[in-house]
Amino acid sequence: MSETTTLKVDLGERSYPIYIGQNLLDQPDILKKHIPGKNVLIVSNEIVAPLYLKKVEALLSGIRFESVILPDGEQYKNLEVLNTIYDALLSHRMDRNTTIIALGGGVVGDMAGFAAASYQRGVHLIQIPTTLLSQVDSSVGGKTGVNHPLGKNMIGAFYQPRAVIADTSTLNTLDSRQLSAGLAEVIKYGLIKDADFFDWIDQNMDALLQRDPKALAYAIKISCQTKADVVAADEKESGQRALLNLGHTFGHAIETGMGYGEWLHGEAVGAGMCMAARMSALLGWIDEAQVNKVIAIMENARLPTMAPDSMSEQQFLDLMSVDKKVLDGVLRLVLLKRIGHAIVTNDYSKEQLAEAIRISYKK
Ligand code: NAD
Ligand code: GLY
Repeated sequence: MSETTTLKVDLGERSYPIYIGQNLLDQPDILKKHIPGKNVLIVSNEIVAPLYLKKVEALLSGIRFESVILPDGEQYKNLEVLNTIYDALLSHRMDRNTTIIALGGGVVGDMAGFAAASYQRGVHLIQIPTTLLSQVDSSVGGKTGVNHPLGKNMIGAFYQPRAVIADTSTLNTLDSRQLSAGLAEVIKYGLIKDADFFDWIDQNMDALLQRDPKALAYAIKISCQTKADVVAADEKESGQRALLNLGHTFGHAIETGMGYGEWLHGEAVGAGMCMAARMSALLGWIDEAQVNKVIAIMENARLPTMAPDSMSEQQFLDLMSVDKKVLDGVLRLVLLKRIGHAIVTNDYSKEQLAEAIRISYKK
C-alpha cells in the first residue's frame, strides 16, 4: 500500500484533514470516522457513479445511505439541478445530522457543498474529489455554489467540509483533456506564490501528463498545501485568497460567454492566465520572456492560450464587469509582478484591459 499524505486546513474548531493517496476508497476507516450521524446522502453524477459509487457504499456498513445521481456537465451546475438534491434529502427524510458526500469533480463538489450549506441551514459535508482539478483546488476551502446564466458561480456560500479524501487512483479513469484542465490550477499555484514549484512543473510536465503516480502525488500535495495555507489565512476572501483567482476573471468570462461546458473550467483558466500575463506585461510588471514562459507551460500542458475567436472584446468586458472581484463598481484583477508572485490590483486603465484582450486573439 502506498503512502497517504495528510494535510490540515487550519480553521480552529472547523479545521479538517485532506487525505491524499492511492486506493483510499478501499480504506473504510478514513471515511467513517468523519461521519457523525447515521444518515448519508451520496451526491454523484452519471459518469462517476458507475465507476466509484459502489466502492463508497461499501465503506458505509452500519450507516443508512441513499444516493442522488446528477446529469454530467457544467451546464447542469444550476439551481434547477440543485433542487434535485433537496428533493432527495427531503424524500429520504434526511435530518440535520445527515452527512452529504460529494463524489465527483468540481461540479458535483460545488453543488453538493451548496446543498450541504443550505439544507436545514447546514448539514455535514465530506468531499471525495475524483478529478485532478477537484483534488488540487475545488474540494478544499469551502467555496460552494452554482452558476447563473448571467454569471459563473454567482450563487453560493462558503461552507467547509469535515474532510477531503483525494484517492489519486481515481485519476486513472480521467480523460486526458480533463487531466490537462486540472494542470491549469496546479500551474496557477506556481505562478501566484511559488516560482520553484512553477519550475518543477515545467520540468516534470511529461511525467504529469503520463500520470506518473509520484509526480501527481507531489503536485497534488504542494497544491493542496498552498491552498490550505491561503484558506487558513483568509477563509472568506477579504484579502489574499483572491490570488487563487489568477486567470479566473478572464476565464469565467470565457465559460459564460461560450456557454457553460463548451470550454472546460481549467481550459478557460489556462487561457485566462495567459491573458493576465499579457496584461501584466502591458503594465510593465513582467517582460516578454516571462509572458512567453507562461504561454509555453500552458501549451506543454495542452491548454489553450488564446481567447476564443467567437467572443468579442465587448463581450469580455461586459462579462468581466459582473465578476465577484468587482467591489463598488471597480473590477480588481489578479496580475503578475513576476512568476511566483501575483497581486490583486485595480491599478490599470480600461484601455490597458481592452488592449490585453485585443492582443489575446489569434492573428
Ligand atoms: P467536472 O466536475 O465537470 O468533471 C470533469 C469531467 O470528468 C466530468 O465529465 C466528470 O463527470 C468526469 N469525471 C470526474 N471524475 C472522473 C473520474 N475519476 N474518471 C472519469 N471521469 C471523471 O469538472 P472539474 O474540472 O472537476 O471541476 C470544474 C468545476 O469546479 C467548475 O464548475 C468550477 O467552477 C469549479 N471550481 C470550484 C472551485 C472551488 O473552490 N469551489 C475551484 C475551482 C473550480
Ligand atoms: N478557487 C478559488 C478559491 O477557492 O478561492
